[in-house]
This record gives sequence, structure tokens and C-alpha cells, in this order.
Amino acid sequence: MENTVENLRIDGTRLWDSLMEMAQIGGTPAGGCNRQALTDEDKQGRDLFARWCREIGCEIRVDRMGNIFARRAGSEDLPPVITGSHLDTQPTGGKFDGVYGVLAGLEVLRTLEQNKVTTRAPLEVVVWTNEEGARFSPAMIGSGVWAGEFSLEYGHGRADKEGKTIGNELERIGYLGDMPAEPKPITAAFEAHIEQGPILEKQEQVIGVVTGVQGIRWYDVTFHGTPCHAGPTPMEDRRDPVQAMSLLCQKLYAEVKTFSEDARMTCGDLRAEPGSRNTVPEKVVLALDLRHPQPEGLEHLHQSLHRVVEEVQQATGTTIEVRDEWHSPPVAFNEDCIAAVDKAVNALGYSHRKMVSGAGHDSVYVSRVAPVSMIFVPCAGGLSHNEAESAEAEHLEAGGNVLLQAMLDRAGI
Ligand code: GLV
Ligand code: MN
Ligand code: MN
Ligand code: MN
Repeated sequence: MENTVENLRIDGTRLWDSLMEMAQIGGTPAGGCNRQALTDEDKQGRDLFARWCREIGCEIRVDRMGNIFARRAGSEDLPPVITGSHLDTQPTGGKFDGVYGVLAGLEVLRTLEQNKVTTRAPLEVVVWTNEEGARFSPAMIGSGVWAGEFSLEYGHGRADKEGKTIGNELERIGYLGDMPAEPKPITAAFEAHIEQGPILEKQEQVIGVVTGVQGIRWYDVTFHGTPCHAGPTPMEDRRDPVQAMSLLCQKLYAEVKTFSEDARMTCGDLRAEPGSRNTVPEKVVLALDLRHPQPEGLEHLHQSLHRVVEEVQQATGTTIEVRDEWHSPPVAFNEDCIAAVDKAVNALGYSHRKMVSGAGHDSVYVSRVAPVSMIFVPCAGGLSHNEAESAEAEHLEAGGNVLLQAMLDRAGI
């Protein structure tokens, strides 16, 4: 094969080995990863990434939100082409969600370094802080502050369940950088990620050319009841917030399912207080996640929630409070970036389809200030946010090659 940049390929084995090495940090007995945002494990993961980047001559800069930018110089003073994702995981996360996008970016830089290729525009690999939203809500907060969606004060002030804040935890692990967390001119941005759903695998396609991300709304729904004794209190005399919650869930799940096959509802976290088996709880707090690809669809789900809340209050005599925690409207990615990914996939000859992401990603906020698109690869059984999350080395390599060629296309040689 002729020695041209079009024929450049990443090293799939080196990418896989780096993924497996990173997966040891926070590795769980069940084979997954627990490397939640701004924990000691997250620090170790960040340190390893920074070391790998320095080894190939990159300059590392960290902003006030702890977002890490590893820069490989270009031959001209142009706005960079950036890529990246996140190193934090869910509490029972896998080895690929987020990490793949970071290490695929590193692999692109390693490939260029090894082949002594200098792009016209500089290239940067970014690690965004707290994408998952598992330890600190909301998700994608590092990229969100950077893109101007949230203020720095809001970002620093977000607290975990123990009351530890992002600002203090960034300082504790040594990642409270001095660079302002604000956007700069960017030529193009790409993010590689596992699909986290079953479509590519089912359709036996290697690459998802991602055209956008569906909308997400998060709520904290609090059901207030009257605490009382589990034994003497007759059922009809109770104001039981658990009954109210289960009625709401039943009604809303039914509505979501009949509304549209694209609609999603998840109740990922429940807390009963005071949390004692033989006391009817005083309150229940439900963390609710609703999603839809169209703004009107998401609005419909929002209205359904509020109507069902009214119905359940009437039926149970409880009081229900709905607090809006986060709203990430549906996003359409940039046509030129989508075309760059499509061109790369076609040139490389991988089977592919266009698709909308069901999961949220840092690219959502990056897209507010820069041209963006994403590259998906299949994951086994479509499973993610699960310790069993798994992907084929061959597919990860293919996604890395698409990322390489798309970045070269935008950065120029
Ligand atoms: C982020 O990981 C999300 O899609 O919830
Ligand atoms: Mn992710
Ligand atoms: Mn995730
Ligand atoms: Mn995500």
C-alpha cells in the first residue's frame, strides 16, 4: 500500500492494551469499572492519560473545571481540531463508556507521532470532567461549564450525596487548573463512543455516523407522606409516599410506552426517608430521567408527568413536588463534521448507518460553540452502564481509523 496519509491506520492492539490498562484503575471484581468523577481512581486515570500524552510530546493544560486538554502542535497557527470524551464511570460502569473516546483520540496522536505526520491545525484530546452525572448531577457538567451552559460557580458548587463539592474535590485531587473554563475557536470536534444501545450490533454494522443526540430531562420528584407505624396503622388511614410513587411510576410508564417507541423513562435512584422497614416513610425522593429525540416529544412527556402528578396527589392524599434538575434539548450535529465522518467511513469501506444518540455526551455542549459530530461503534448486546459492557477490538480499531481520517480531513496536512 502506498505510504500516504489516506493509508494511515491506527494501531488497534495498542489501543486495546491502553483500554485494558486504564480499566485496571477502579476495576471491579465483576470485570467492570468504578472510577467515579473526582475520586482517587479518577485522579489516577487522569494522571495515566497525562503521562501517556506527555510521552508523545503533547502539552497538557487543565481548566478551572478540571477539563484536561492535551495538545499536539500543528504547522500553522489555526484553531485546533479536538476530540475526546470522559474518564469517569458509573458506579457499576464498564471499560469503554467514555474511556474509548479519550483513548481513541490518544491513539490518533500516537499514530501521527509514530509516522511523523504534522497536521496544519493543532490537534487536542480532551478529558471532560464528570460526564456521567452519577456522583455529581447533572451530567456533562465539565463540558457544560466550558461551553457556557452553566456558570463556574454552579459547576464548582455541585455536591455529591456526602456534600463534597466539585470545586473542593478538584482541588483535592490536584485538577483545579488555572486556565479559564471557556470556549475558544475550534476548527472541528469529534467524539468516538460505544453506541450503548443494540442497533449497530443487530444490523451488523460497524460504524454509526451520529447525526445528533436526543433530548433529556431530569427531575427530582419528592413524595411527602405521614410517617407512621407499620403495624397498628390501617391501610386506608395512611398517607404513604411509596404507594404514591409506585402509582405514579405505573401510570407514567404506561403513558410513555403508548406515546412513542422513541420515548424513554428511567427511575434510576430512589430514596425513602427515614429508611426504616417498619415505618411508613415520611418522604420518597425519585430521580427521574425522561428522553425523546424531538423537542415536541420531550415536551409531551414533561406535560404527562405533571398531569400524572396531579392525578396521584388526588388519589393518594400525598403531596408531590417536582423539581427540574436538568434539561438537555435534542441536538443536531454539524453537517460538515457529519460529512467528514461519512467520507472517512466510505473511504475505509466499513459498513455503517446514520443514527441519533440515545445517550447524552459531552458533544452536546461542545456543539453549542463548535462544529461537532460523533462516531459510534457497536457494543455487545447493546449493554452499557453495566459492568459486563463489552466491545470488539476490531470495531474499536475501525472507529479509531474513522476518527483519524475525519480529524486529518478537518485539520489538513
Ligand atoms: C449520560 O451518560 C447519559 O446519557 O445519561
Ligand atoms: Mn459516555
Ligand atoms: Mn455513561
Ligand atoms: Mn453519556
